[in-house]
Amino acid sequence: MRLQLLLLACCFVAIVNSQNAGELTPEYHPPLIIQSCDASGCQPENTGIVIDADTRRLYSVADNSVSCYTGSGWNPVLCPDGQTCAQNCAIDGFTQDEYNNRFGISTSGSALRLAYLTQSEMGMNIGSRTYLLGEDNNYRLFYLKNRELSVTFDYSTTTCGMDAGVYFLAMDGDGGMSRYPDNKAGAKYGTGYCDAQCPHYLRYSNGQVNLDVSSEYGICCVEMDIMEANRWAATVTTHGCTAEGYFVCNGVDCGDGANFFEGVCDKSGCDYSSARQNNRYFFGGNDTFTVDSSQPFTVITQFLTDDGSDSGKLVEIKQIWIQNGVEIPVPFANWGYTNDYNSITEEFCAASKTMFGEFNDFAEQGGLESLANAFDNGVVMAFAFWEDPSTYMQWLDSISPPDADPEAPGAYRGPCPLDAGKPEDNHVNYADAYHTISDIKIGTIGSTY
Ligand SMILES: *[C@@H]1O[C@H](CO)[C@@H](O)[C@H](O)[C@H]1NC(C)=O
Repeated sequence: MRLQLLLLACCFVAIVNSQNAGELTPEYHPPLIIQSCDASGCQPENTGIVIDADTRRLYSVADNSVSCYTGSGWNPVLCPDGQTCAQNCAIDGFTQDEYNNRFGISTSGSALRLAYLTQSEMGMNIGSRTYLLGEDNNYRLFYLKNRELSVTFDYSTTTCGMDAGVYFLAMDGDGGMSRYPDNKAGAKYGTGYCDAQCPHYLRYSNGQVNLDVSSEYGICCVEMDIMEANRWAATVTTHGCTAEGYFVCNGVDCGDGANFFEGVCDKSGCDYSSARQNNRYFFGGNDTFTVDSSQPFTVITQFLTDDGSDSGKLVEIKQIWIQNGVEIPVPFANWGYTNDYNSITEEFCAASKTMFGEFNDFAEQGGLESLANAFDNGVVMAFAFWEDPSTYMQWLDSISPPDADPEAPGAYRGPCPLDAGKPEDNHVNYADAYHTISDIKIGTIGSTY
């Protein structure tokens, strides 16, 4: 096939190749200013927001008026199989109007605003998944060891059943262009997603278009969730992997179903949620809570090493909250542990898993060392806003499992009733919800606040 392409190259303007970048619509990136800080202060840095490749139009490289995928499925001529489809089809860009008015993604200065629900002539769009892009059209890589990240959040309009989050992923900085030489689209078009759940639904799997809803391949990588939250609950979670970098799983490695603990990533993660650690009034949507999420607040997440150097061992992931200028420490976990914990450490994860009667897959999948390795290679910042038709995000903001005794250690996650947060209700009652993420600062410990 490659030889044939070379022979034909003379006659086509567009190069026929996998995961082509489209020329039909020039890609726009909502601009976002972040700050890079050290002891001498903070410097602004220009970045941009790019929406995930899976959201995009695919059209024929040979004739850009022909779509590769329509509401009724894949074009059988262009896409008889995944390999051919990847060669025949190009990924299209999105205009500013589409970012703003179809996906509800907009920026202003240092603030990113993500809408929950957006109605356009293309129909109803729920949430989005976007990444932070550098000026060179590669993802902006973050080296988090011995650094801290400061982010200001506004969750005031969100509610039960929503998850609006900021997280880091061990994606390739170029979106997979050097890993898959046929990938001509790259980070500029939001390619190369992976996470610790090893998703099978991604449109590109192992360099081919995934024509089925579920590919045999899963795409795994280390994931560090800085914040997954709505107005009523918030959690920070590590998901380490024994696999390094962007890892294509197939079979047991993917950790599906009965193989949940046999895969290459810690799907459960080690999470610190104050509510789950029996401090039910730390975070929530009115002034009964210490952090009142009806107002904006700032969270600093520190990635501390044992010797305070960049090359030291990652030993603690600690958060400091700030609201109305007041620093608010995370309260100590309140289940009668032998030691005091208000951050993620290996000791905390082991103690919490024991307390909650859970298998410590965090330790099995390499503990903090696995995250540290990913941080040394640079991780990509992602923003996601989603809903959960199957369990209404009970794991985040309600009781989980739903039939558990709410007083049993680990069952209570937040004050949302079990039947709250249904997508069909939120679409009607919270159609105007949005999440803002602003004043992102990355820097040495103590430099961002
Ligand atoms: C604050 O929110 C909690 C949890 O939903 C609720 O039980 C409480 O009644 C609210 N308090 C006020 C003053 O609205």
